[in-house]
Amino acid sequence: MRQATVYIDREALQYNFNRVKQLAPKAKIVSMVKANAYGHGVKDCLAALENTDAFGVACLEEALEIRQLGYKQDITLIEGVFSADEMHVVIEQNIEVIVHHQQQVDWLLANKDAYLAKNLKVWVKLNSGMNRLGFKIDVIKNIINQLKAEGFNCVLAMHFANADSDHPLNDEQIRQFLEVKNDCAPIMGSCCNSAAIYKYPELHFDYVRPGIMLYGATPFADKSVHDLDLKPVMTFTAEIIALNTIQAGEAVGYGSLYIAEKETQLAIVSIGYGDGYPRAFPKQNFVAINGQKVALVGRVAMDMIAIDVTGLNAPIGTKVELWGQNRLVDDVAEANGTIGYELLCRLSNRPVRKQI
Ligand SMILES: Cc1ncc(COP(=O)(O)O)c(C=O)c1O
Repeated sequence: MRQATVYIDREALQYNFNRVKQLAPKAKIVSMVKANAYGHGVKDCLAALENTDAFGVACLEEALEIRQLGYKQDITLIEGVFSADEMHVVIEQNIEVIVHHQQQVDWLLANKDAYLAKNLKVWVKLNSGMNRLGFKIDVIKNIINQLKAEGFNCVLAMHFANADSDHPLNDEQIRQFLEVKNDCAPIMGSCCNSAAIYKYPELHFDYVRPGIMLYGATPFADKSVHDLDLKPVMTFTAEIIALNTIQAGEAVGYGSLYIAEKETQLAIVSIGYGDGYPRAFPKQNFVAINGQKVALVGRVAMDMIAIDVTGLNAPIGTKVELWGQNRLVDDVAEANGTIGYELLCRLSNRPVRKQI
């Protein structure tokens, strides 16, 4: 059987969840499990997150999957509902919505009694400079005051555009958030994703919304998961399926991009972009064998890669770590001009999934 396996380490997930608790002891935790728990498999991850206060998802379908699996925690729809019909389903299923435009407020008000009867909070999104979703500062205060007057329990929500860096917009986003929070007091607040949980302990407020840190990848370009004391949850492996010795001047793979400078022992590994392994590699990329870094050579193909195992004891059947503890997904991402988030989310269904 072809070996391409994704191992999900539930203990690592619990460890990372407890890191959130340590860092934000007073806040409630909305564990972000959208996009199939960042590609880790929502079913496997929910059980490990049983102590979370709530789950955060991007759409109703994702929320319903959580309910179908039997989880009763609060769920926040971080983009709200996309139609009036969805509002009936969310109320029936005890799912909380964000409102980020007027139509969503109207749908909510039209279902006010049913929503309030379920004791659901409403999350009101401030657009403080990200310019994706939310009300601008000059209108959000009226919306919040109106919702409060109608009896809604509101959470002021905001998302940083640059929580992973020292961009000047951060200060402006914080200024706007604090102004609205102050002018609309009392109101609960939530503005911290993973990077902001580390960076802004003074802004944890009522709910933090960790995503990537739960899965043991870094939100920062300049800090590794080891620096952040997180454990990679996913280990992605394949096996050596063939060995070739090539001479100086011989090429490897599609496009014959790699030409050996000396006699080289190549190993062919059963993994490719058909599994979700990235093909771009603008920079030299590596895998790990027994904890040791081993270089890729030539193009990544749909089902195979070639690695240089010259001088290594790496027979057919040797396990190769594409990412995990020894070869961090963030480093694979960096070599391919992307971020760990993307690589984790875009794995295909082909690799076999196992829990450890
Ligand atoms: C509104 C919102 N909150 C929190 C998160 C979690 O972010 P991160 O994975 O960087 O912790 C996301 C992720 O995109 C988000 O969209």
